[in-house]
Amino acid sequence: MTRRVMTTPCARRRALQLLGAGAAGVSLGACQPPVPRVVRVPLSRLAGGQRVVVALGDDRIELSRSATGLVARSLVCTHQGCIVAWQEPEQHYKCPCQGGFFDALGRPTAGPVTAPLPLRPVRVEGDEAVVG
Ligand code: FES
Repeated sequence: MTRRVMTTPCARRRALQLLGAGAAGVSLGACQPPVPRVVRVPLSRLAGGQRVVVALGDDRIELSRSATGLVARSLVCTHQGCIVAWQEPEQHYKCPCQGGFFDALGRPTAGPVTAPLPLRPVRVEGDEAVVG
C-alpha cells in the first residue's frame, strides 16, 4: 500500500531547505504564508460604533455597523491604491497620498478620486462577522 502525504508548496520548500538544497545552489524561491480567504471578527468588537480594520490579501477592509447592518468597505483608495483612513472629527475618509476624500458612505468628495470605496461581502456567522 502506498502512503500519500499531502504537503503544501511551502512545506516541500522548507523540507528541501532542511535537506540543504538551498546550500547546494538550488534556487528554492520565496515561501509566502497562505493568503487568508476570509477574516472573522467577533461582533462584540463592533459595538458602540467601533470600526475594525482587517487585512484580506492586499486589501484593507474596514468593518463597521450602520443603521442597516454590517458594512465591509475597502480602504484601498480608488485613485492609485494608497490606504485611506477614517477621520472621526470630520466624518470622512482621507487619502494620505494625493489628498482624496470620501464621505461616510465611501463616495468621492474631493481630490483626484472619482470612484467610491468598494464594499466587500460580509455575513454574520454565530457571534462573528465574516468578510470574504
Ligand atoms: S491614491 Fe488616494 S488620492 Fe491618490
